Amino acid sequence: MEKRILGNTSMEITPVGLGCMGLSHAFGTPLEKAEAAEKIKAAFEMGYTFFDTAECYTGTNPDGTTAYNEEAVGQGIKGFRDKIVLATKCGVRHMGDHLEMDSRPETIRKSIEGSLRRLQTDYIDLYYQHRVDPNVEPEVVAEIMAQLKKEGKIRAWGISCVEEDYLRRAHAVCPVSAVQNVYSVIDRDTEKLFPVFEELGITLVAFTPLAKGFLSGRYTERPTFDHPEDNRGGRFQFSEEGFRYYQQALDLIRGIAEEKSATMAQVCLGWMIRKKPWIVPIPGTRNIERMKENLASADVALTAEDIAKIDEALNRMGLADAAAKRLTQPKVAKQ
Ligand SMILES: NC(=O)c1ccc[n+]([C@@H]2O[C@H](COP(=O)([O-])OP(=O)(O)OC[C@H]3O[C@@H](n4cnc5c(N)ncnc54)[C@H](OP(=O)(O)O)[C@@H]3O)[C@@H](O)[C@H]2O)c1
Repeated sequence: MEKRILGNTSMEITPVGLGCMGLSHAFGTPLEKAEAAEKIKAAFEMGYTFFDTAECYTGTNPDGTTAYNEEAVGQGIKGFRDKIVLATKCGVRHMGDHLEMDSRPETIRKSIEGSLRRLQTDYIDLYYQHRVDPNVEPEVVAEIMAQLKKEGKIRAWGISCVEEDYLRRAHAVCPVSAVQNVYSVIDRDTEKLFPVFEELGITLVAFTPLAKGFLSGRYTERPTFDHPEDNRGGRFQFSEEGFRYYQQALDLIRGIAEEKSATMAQVCLGWMIRKKPWIVPIPGTRNIERMKENLASADVALTAEDIAKIDEALNRMGLADAAAKRLTQPKVAKQ
């Protein structure tokens, strides 16, 4: 299978990573830890070598206890820890209806110890600052990341949901290997940072690349997500207006999928994989067959002309600008 290099490191990753969040966070009742661990093992066996989790990915088990996504990932990767690139994140706490950012060095130090314990490992390959903390300067965060690297606790670091100025300032202190931003055919705002990623040698890890499953075309009408810990319901794309707003985009993707004998999800992932050799989507799924389908999106024969054609069509629909991005933001800022 094709491999990609993570940013300015020598670490090899698959062109599609596995987003593990939904196994126990924000997609309804968490899977039992053993079942989630089995899914992760299955993903490795089919070829995935890049796994994404976060300190704050938790859910409530039916018995009221907390499900920690990192614990499930830790259990899942036990037999092959040294053969994968493991990413986790710090600096965010879920406070019911909002996120609290805390990137103070003392908090990051505490966080990494917790993550190492839950993940049953003594190093993290890629450690992200999950969100920018307005009270902590980028240089301060970069400095603690540099220390963690020196101590061998992390091999590389990244930032999630970042803009240019912050990224450059952080990078100047300790080189950033990856940026994890939302990116999909209906949310292309991060393309404005592409020249910066190119210049600094940064991998774009694309989160929510299927717009929470919407872009797979599996929903023909407005679905209901009524579990209190399922954050899909508040997303614009799942509203009646959202279905109408994105109908043309769905039709475009469906047409290309038919042409290429691929699924719509594969076209959406293949579109970004083929666009740049340094983009790696991390779709999430609880379904083994869909894991295989997503991994195979790297094989969809999309040419540079196909990609340009898709982009032009999306531009004509007005889906390349910041307004489109706003529309895909959740009402409740829970990720
Ligand atoms: N840095 C951040 O702030 C941030 C925020 C959000 C997410 N993330 C990361 O990004 C990862 C992915 O994002 P996400 O889970 O929000 O959104 P996503 O990957 O766009 O969508 C996940 C949803 O898509 C469905 N799906 C996946 N593959 C499919 C396919 N081939 N066909 C049909 N449906 C498919 C899944 O359903 P099934 O389970 O039923 O297949 C699931 O409901 C997360 O796991 C997490 O690691 C990071």
